Amino acid sequence: MVLGPDELEKAVAILKKNDVLAIPTETVYGLAGNIYSEEAIAKIFELKKRPLNNPLIVHLHKMEQLQEIVKEFPPKAKLLAERFWPGPLTLVLKKGDNVPDLVTGGKDTVAIRIPDLPVTLALLEQLPFPIAAPSANPFNRISPTSAAHVTGYFHDALAVLDGGSCKKGIESTIIGFDGEEPVLYRLGSISKESIEETVGEVRIQNKAKSAPNAPGMMKKHYAPTTKTYLTENAKEMASLMEGKKVGLLRFTGKSEDPKYDHIEVLSPSGDLAEATANLYGALHRLDSMKLDMIIAERVPNIGLGLSINDRLERATQ
Ligand code: TXA
Ligand code: MG
Repeated sequence: MVLGPDELEKAVAILKKNDVLAIPTETVYGLAGNIYSEEAIAKIFELKKRPLNNPLIVHLHKMEQLQEIVKEFPPKAKLLAERFWPGPLTLVLKKGDNVPDLVTGGKDTVAIRIPDLPVTLALLEQLPFPIAAPSANPFNRISPTSAAHVTGYFHDALAVLDGGSCKKGIESTIIGFDGEEPVLYRLGSISKESIEETVGEVRIQNKAKSAPNAPGMMKKHYAPTTKTYLTENAKEMASLMEGKKVGLLRFTGKSEDPKYDHIEVLSPSGDLAEATANLYGALHRLDSMKLDMIIAERVPNIGLGLSINDRLERATQ
């Protein structure tokens, strides 16, 4: 069932009876449930087939709610929250005692963000509890950026609140703390450079080895089911392509070339924010075309390009 933005009461009712609901955000669609309901949280893990030790992000609608959720709010976390909330920033902070272990995968920290989408903020305001929401895709698959992507995955298993296409297009940037020092756990919709403008240099720690319990940091993630290769330059892949139906994902340039069955151009004008917004939609389309392979070209490795290349690397492991 797809609910329009004018059917907010129905969305509220679903969450109040501790059922799950897919919700739009500015990054990707989330699979939402009451953080205090064991039933709702268990259903999220079950639907996604997600391991129980992979923690969820708690979504709030105003900063005052933090008192209910966390023990500490370090000065640099506060600076980041003031600059980027509502928005695609997730902060990992020491968890308060009333946050259930099921939500945090048994960790003593909790991930939190305030999403930047009016319909979702209105929904959160009408609920007497915060919601946990991982991306609304089965474990290891491409995150959904439209209501149709969600129903493509889950069919009638849950209702979706339709908020249109996600304007950011990839997940939030996750920042945790080592003492007072910010650490970047997941590259995302806010570039590393923008974070550093606010709090100075941050260390990236997003590899599976150093953070084994975090799915966004797992090597294989965000993956299409079609075999996907990553390259600096698609021309290098010519020998692999012979006799095959091939799709190309490229940053900019032409969308026609007889060598390929289909080409997705992420940003005709070469804009990294536009490319980020189009990334998952393009991967979903290519993956639905019954191709033999997808070739993805790396984008320039600056600003949001780092986040796009990170997702492409994980999609092609
Ligand atoms: O943009 C987003 O963040 C979307 C929308 C729906 O808000 N949500 C999202 O959730 O991407 P999910 O569950 O797909 O990714 C959550 C990431 C995982 O990589 C998880 O390991 C990390 O957050 N995470 C959650 N709690 C954590 C914690 N306490 N410590 C370290 N990482 C944590
Ligand atoms: Mg996810």
